[in-house]
Amino acid sequence: MASSRSVPAPGWFPVARAADVGTTPVPVGAGGQAWVVLRLRPGGEVTAFSPRCPHRLTTLTAATVVGGQLRCAGHGWRFAADGRCTEVPALGPHAVPPPRADLTTPWAVEERDGWVWLAPDRTAQQRPPRAGADTVAEPVPALPPPGGPVLDNLAPALAHAWHPVAAADQLAPGGWLSVRLLGRTWTLERRDDGIAVAPAAWGVREREGMVWVAPGRPVATDLGATGVGRAQWLPPLRTATPAAVLLDALLGPGRQVHTLSGGFTGTWETDDLRVRTEVAAPFQLLRRVEPAGGPVRWELVLLQPEDGDCTRVHARVSVEGRVTRPDLTAAALRLQAAVSRLDPADRGRGLPLTPRDEVHVATDALGAALRTTLADLVVAARRTDQEEDDDVAAA
Ligand code: FES
Repeated sequence: MASSRSVPAPGWFPVARAADVGTTPVPVGAGGQAWVVLRLRPGGEVTAFSPRCPHRLTTLTAATVVGGQLRCAGHGWRFAADGRCTEVPALGPHAVPPPRADLTTPWAVEERDGWVWLAPDRTAQQRPPRAGADTVAEPVPALPPPGGPVLDNLAPALAHAWHPVAAADQLAPGGWLSVRLLGRTWTLERRDDGIAVAPAAWGVREREGMVWVAPGRPVATDLGATGVGRAQWLPPLRTATPAAVLLDALLGPGRQVHTLSGGFTGTWETDDLRVRTEVAAPFQLLRRVEPAGGPVRWELVLLQPEDGDCTRVHARVSVEGRVTRPDLTAAALRLQAAVSRLDPADRGRGLPLTPRDEVHVATDALGAALRTTLADLVVAARRTDQEEDDDVAAA
């Protein structure tokens, strides 16, 4: 049996039974390294790739085979058998993907005796060994984390921001409510003189029909105007995806980014659609969607990082002008479908904040701005902590 190692020894490793490998990527391990193996054509030869898409580090186990190539489930980047990225749909059909967009492939992958064998690096043995009764595949190793820092749901910096925790009308006069935020349980109580929160927080407030809690002194600001016209809240959703990753997935393409204090705006235009996006750190998103010939709708999405593995999604849609109930319902269903579609594949425990950990292309301007905004939040929160420590020391 091949043992697990962080640095693979040269050689061949049995990674899967050949009969178990079809056109769906199978995660495998070879000498402690993670790979996916698959056939790019039914019954064709086996191909192996590094396990994450270089774009947003999505696992390729959710990728599909299209036209003899691997298509990432994230944003549709395509990869040929040699790992070369052949298409980035957001850049258009004639764009040349950057070299960093390519997947890594092993030195060799081969079938023998009903097994798929993988040699990560050049080895003196040109062919895999014969399989025996004791041939087994090693366990699939965990995927390596990004090299730089990531922002997860329990990042200490998130204490220095306002977070939505409940719909305001859930908290009746004299009533109380328990909510989760940043891995802790908080109790809200509506009293005659306002809302009390325990344990003590820097602040609690009502805004946009929600109750918000700021555990520490906020270093981020709020969105500006958040919509006009008839509005409808969607039923709240829970997802296991970290809030920063979820927000990144919601952004979509964008250009013409303008940085704001604690956030940014950006636009995206096609022949039949104009979208203006605004983000306020950490997890407030507002989108004004103007379809050609249709009513303008505003989509507000507020994310509540409840626990390390749980994010609550609060979303509201409003429609401009004289709208009918069916108009509003259609807009709500559209947003609900967009939110429910997210969360497709494991993208790790948080959002990488270092640009070199991922591959950004021109249409990723919103995603790049989100990373910068969140990295700035981390720095500002650290500075605030330091100032508070200094104040305590000086007192
Ligand atoms: S195309 Fe793979 S994550 Fe974007």
